[in-house]
Amino acid sequence: MNRIVTFSGAGLSKESGIPTFRDSKDGLWHHFRVEDVATREAWLRNPELVLQFYETRWHNVQSCEPNAAHRAIASLDRSYEVINITQNVDDLLERAGAKQVIHLHGSLNARKCEWHHSIVGIKGDSEFHCDYRATQTAPVKLGELCPKCGGQLRPDVVWFGEAVDMQWNYFQMLAGQTDVFIGVGTSGQVEPAASLLSVFRKAKEKYFIDPEPPSGLSGYERLKGSACTHMPELAHGLIERLADVDPPPRYQSSESD
Ligand code: OAD
Repeated sequence: MNRIVTFSGAGLSKESGIPTFRDSKDGLWHHFRVEDVATREAWLRNPELVLQFYETRWHNVQSCEPNAAHRAIASLDRSYEVINITQNVDDLLERAGAKQVIHLHGSLNARKCEWHHSIVGIKGDSEFHCDYRATQTAPVKLGELCPKCGGQLRPDVVWFGEAVDMQWNYFQMLAGQTDVFIGVGTSGQVEPAASLLSVFRKAKEKYFIDPEPPSGLSGYERLKGSACTHMPELAHGLIERLADVDPPPRYQSSESD
């Protein structure tokens, strides 16, 4: 089966009503300082403010629905093997029906111990020893403690300065076996996730959907505009294309079989 990999950022969910981070008017980082709400230092200084920030994000996502771009991506599952790598912490791809979603920056629907080992990556730091992580149906509150070690619980998202589980070997292998790679709605400014745009250069066909695609995307067809404008059209074309391909000739058994 042909394989499609998508790589998305906040722009994919913007038309659902979830703000991006860096858009000039309503980007979250124009209203909040990263240093106040999305770093370990912020957590140690003022955990209540950090939890409030993520509680607002959680309610925002709960009140939103998948948009036409999420649904178009999910529709590809019927014809292709599709792997969706996203920087988004919302669950709109899953709610649209997408089967395989990898959340590089975590998920608002999960919580973990503040001493979870994933925070520092494989190299480790003995303080980060806990493995408690669980799904959640309400945002974490100050005073909700880890049932394993008593640490304060926090959202299962990645903050600046924390480790991202990049699965480099898997992504390198996948890139060599990808027919179509679609970047959508990301400024490509945050490493290490942004490196995937180079890793997937090996894919046979590459598209990038964004009103302002990042510069230096050699080999990509740029579809300038919103996700809901271009993604349904691209998905439709990819599905039609498979339908146009003649089915392989039926196996004819020879007389000696
Ligand atoms: P950004 O806010 O950096 O970029 C959003 C992108 O979406 C920009 O390239 C916009 O042009 C584009 N965009 C805006 N409206 C769009 C629309 N309707 N359709 C398609 N694209 C649209 O968000 P990300 O690239 O996701 O990390 O940011 C990456 C990471 O930085 C996030 O995961 C988050 C943030 O800080 C952490 O919090 C660790």
